Amino acid sequence: MSADAWWKNGIVYQIYPRSFQDSDGDGIGDLQGIQRRLDYLVELGVDAVWISPIYPSPMADFGYDISDYCNVDPRFGTLEDFDSLAAECKARGLKLVLDFVPNHTSDRHPWFVQSRASRNNTKRDWYLWQDPAPGGGPPNNWLSNFGGPAWTFDEASGQYYCHSFLKEQPDLNWRSPEVRKAMYDVLRFWLRRGVDGFRVDVLYHLIKDVEFRDNPQNPSFQAGQDPSHQLLPLYTTDRPEMQDIIVEMRRVVDEFSDEASARVLIGELYLPLERLMAYYGRTSDGLLQGVQLPFNFQLITAPWHAAEIDRIVRNYEAALPHGAAPNWVLGNHDKPRIASRVGQERARLAAMLLLTLRGTPTLYYGDEIGLTDVPIPPDEVQDPFEKNEPGKGLGRDPQRTPMQWSGAHAAGFTDGTPWLRLGGDWSMRNVEAQQGDPASMLQLYKKLIALRRNEHALHEGSHEQLEAGADVLAYARSAGTRRLVVLLNFATSETPVAAELLPADTVVLASTHADRTGAVKGELVLQPLEGVIVAQ
Ligand code: GLC
Ligand code: MG
Repeated sequence: MSADAWWKNGIVYQIYPRSFQDSDGDGIGDLQGIQRRLDYLVELGVDAVWISPIYPSPMADFGYDISDYCNVDPRFGTLEDFDSLAAECKARGLKLVLDFVPNHTSDRHPWFVQSRASRNNTKRDWYLWQDPAPGGGPPNNWLSNFGGPAWTFDEASGQYYCHSFLKEQPDLNWRSPEVRKAMYDVLRFWLRRGVDGFRVDVLYHLIKDVEFRDNPQNPSFQAGQDPSHQLLPLYTTDRPEMQDIIVEMRRVVDEFSDEASARVLIGELYLPLERLMAYYGRTSDGLLQGVQLPFNFQLITAPWHAAEIDRIVRNYEAALPHGAAPNWVLGNHDKPRIASRVGQERARLAAMLLLTLRGTPTLYYGDEIGLTDVPIPPDEVQDPFEKNEPGKGLGRDPQRTPMQWSGAHAAGFTDGTPWLRLGGDWSMRNVEAQQGDPASMLQLYKKLIALRRNEHALHEGSHEQLEAGADVLAYARSAGTRRLVVLLNFATSETPVAAELLPADTVVLASTHADRTGAVKGELVLQPLEGVIVAQ
C-alpha cells in the first residue's frame, strides 16, 4: 500500500461524538466511549474515523463554535483521553481525522473577546468588523445561514461583526496573515499529536468580498425554502482568493506526510460541480496542490432515480481533473438520513452504490443499521437552526440521535438519559440484533465493505458506466483482468438484465437481497429494488 492508499482506497466513517457512545453516564457521547467502540469499527471494516468537533465550546452550535482550538471539551474528555484514543486507533490501523473549523470561532474565544474589546485592539482585524450602513443598520444585505442577517451590532464599539452562522459564531478574517498563521498552527498542534487529517468545515466560506458588496437576489427562490437562499452567495463564498488558501493549508498538512502515511484534507463544499473541482487545486510538478478530497455531496441531494444518478456519476467522472481522487457521501450530521430520504429497501441499494462507485466512501454513523431521522418534539429541540427557523424541516436533531447498540437501557448508548431521544425502533433496530441477522442492513454493509477491501477492482479499479435500461443503474469496475459488473434495479418490479451486459458464467458476489447467491443459471432477472455485484 502506498502512503496515499488509505484515503484513496479506504472507507471513512463519520462519528458525531455527542451521539456515538457515552462512557460516564451524563447522556452525552465522549472520547472514552468512542474508544470502547473501536473494535466495532474494525469489525465493520472501515479504514478511517472522522470525529465532528471535540474542542472546548459553549455548544451554541454543538461544538462548531470553538472557544479553544487546542484542547478537548470536558464533556468529551481530556487531552489524555484524546491521546489514548489516537494510540488505540493506531494500534488497530485506523486513521483518525478531526474536524477543523476555520471560518468562525465561538464569541467566547479569547481572540473574539479581545477583538470586540475596542476598535484599536490588536485583534480587532482578526474578525470582520464594519461600520453601520450610511443610514444606519447592517453594512450590507448578507444573510446568516441559520436565519436573519449575517451582522450583529456591538453597542460598545459601535460596529457590526459578520457571522455566516450564529451570532455566537463570529467569522474570522482570513485576509489577516496573523489569523492564517494562528489557524495553521492549530493544524500543526493536532498533526503533532498524530492525527491523519482534517475535515475542513465550510471551507468555501473563508474569504468574503473585500468591498463587502451586496449579494444578488436569487431569481429561483421559492417561498418555504431555507430563507438564507433568498440571495445568491456570490460575495460571501467561493471567492477567488480561496485558491491560495487551499494551497497554504495543503502545505501545512504535507509538512507531516511521509512515506508511510499521507495526511489528508477533506473539504466541506456545497458547490456546483465545476466549482467543486477547483478545490482539488492547481497542478504543480504534475501534482494537485489543493484539498485531496473535496466532499462530493451529490448523492445527498439527488432525486432517487436511476437516470438521475447515472447522469450524476457520468458528469462527476468526466469533470474530475487528471489525478484527482473521487469520493462519495450518502449522509452527514447536517442532512436527513438516507433511510428516511429513500426508505429502508432503497437504502440497501444506496449502500451498494456508495460502496461500489469509484472513490472514497464516507459513511455516517448509524446508516449501517438503517437508522432513520427521529422526530423531535418541539420542547426537546436542541439544534439552533430549528430554534431560529422553527417548523420548516431544517432542524438537524433528527439525524443526530444516539447510536443504537443493543436492547439494553438507552440502547446501550448511556447509563443515564440520552441528550437527544432515541429512535422509537431502538429495541429492534440495534447493532446487537443485526449482528445475528444475516438479512440485516449491518450484515449487508459488512459484506459490501469486505468485498470492497478484497477486490482491487472495487477499491482502485477503473469505472465504466453501462446502458441497462431506464430503471437499472449499471457500471463495471475493473482492475487487470478482473471485471465486476454492478446492477442496481431502481424499479419496484422484476427487471431482466440483457445477456450482453453479463460476463460468461456469471456469479453473484453480493446482492442487496439476502436470498440470492451463487451462479446465475440462464437469464438474470433482478428482483424489485435489488442490486447485485456480478463477476465471472
Ligand atoms: C458546517 C457543519 C455544521 C455547522 C456549520 C457551522 O456546515 O457541518 O454542522 O453547523 O458548518 O459551523
Ligand atoms: Mg459522556
